[in-house]
Parts: sequence; structure tokens; C-alpha cells
Amino acid sequence: MSLLFFKRLLANPIRVGYLVPSSGFLTRKTARRIDFSKPRVVIELGPGEGCHTRQIVKQMNAESRLVLIELDDHFAAHLEKQFAGDDRVTVVHADALHLAEALELLGILNPDYIISGIPFTIMDRELRERLLAGISQSMGPDTVFITYQVSQQIAEHELFELFRSESCLFNVPPINVMELRKSAAAMNA
Ligand SMILES: C[S@@+](CC[C@H](N)C(=O)[O-])C[C@H]1O[C@@H](n2cnc3c(N)ncnc32)[C@H](O)[C@@H]1O
Repeated sequence: MSLLFFKRLLANPIRVGYLVPSSGFLTRKTARRIDFSKPRVVIELGPGEGCHTRQIVKQMNAESRLVLIELDDHFAAHLEKQFAGDDRVTVVHADALHLAEALELLGILNPDYIISGIPFTIMDRELRERLLAGISQSMGPDTVFITYQVSQQIAEHELFELFRSESCLFNVPPINVMELRKSAAAMNA
């Protein structure tokens, strides 16, 4: 585990959520879910110190774009430094609660993928609902929402429809990688 992750975990345990960053097994499993056979716009929420980001960047083609939205100022500064030389990557130091505004400022409508490492399962219910509503609002009919969580709770959420789920046992804690689309109910709301 990186020292930065450990320090940020101590500073804000609920927000960081897990005891260690995602494993290589999980980051590879998640990145494989993104189809880079054509240019894509990918949004990553809660990238932390960037373990999933590095895997995504490795696979990304030159015309694709990756936007990282990270609330923690230390993680955001670390990401800025780490991806400074890659103009496909934009770091936004912001709360994912303001996702719609952040995407509007960047001129992004209906991203291809939203990948989230935010620990929805362990946070306060009201905050979780606000975050999920904002994610759903920023999705178009073809946007794929990928999230890795300890429970499958989100799969039952009325705003989303689950179309694939896979568990990753080689991660601390063992985790589910879920792929969701915006539900018909959310689309018609
Ligand atoms: C469980 S850690 C995941 C870090 C990394 N993606 C990984 O897999 O190791 C959760 C991350 O989400 C960030 N986070 C939590 N709430 C957030 C919010 N509302 N907006 C943006 N980032 C948030 C935390 O600062 C932390 O970096």
C-alpha cells in the first residue's frame, strides 16, 4: 500500500472506505470492461492514488479522454502530478456530487463509461442517494456505469439496470464488479 493511501485513510476513513487500494486483479478486471476499439470518453469517480487510472491509461487509445473526479485534495494533487504529461487525462478536484456541472464545464454529454470507486455501500444513505442520482442524471442510454462494491445493493436500485456482475476474490475486501445502465424508469423520469 502506498504511504499516501494510508495517510488519507487515517485522515478520512469513511470517505476512503477500504483499508488498501484495489488489487492488480481488480484493476485489470475493471479496465477490461472498457471497449477501446474506438475513441471513448471515460469518467472515473474516486480514483484515489490512481491504481485503476494507470490500468485504464495503459489500454486507452490516443483519441480517448479520461476525466478523474477526486474529492480529496492530496489524492487530486498526486493525480495531477502523475498524469501531467498525458493530455488525454483531466483531473478535476471536486465532489462527485457536482458531476453534472463538472461535465458541462468540460463540454461532455453522455460519457461512454462512468467508473466509480466511491464506497457507496458504507456511506450515509442520503449522501449515497444524492451521488447515485447525479450519476444517473449524467448517463445517456448507452453510458455504462461500472462500480466495484462489497455488496450488490446498487444492482437493485431503481435508477439502474444491472447487465453484468463478476466477483473478484483476489482483493481486500473481496468485491463485486458491476456493470449497469440507466434504467428505463430513470430514462423516462
Ligand atoms: C475506496 S477509495 C478507492 C480508491 C481507488 N479507486 C482504489 O480503487 O484503490 C475511494 C475514493 O473515493 C474518493 N471519494 C469519496 N467520496 C467522493 C466524492 N464524493 N467525490 C469524489 N471522490 C470521492 C476518496 O477520496 C477515495 O479516493
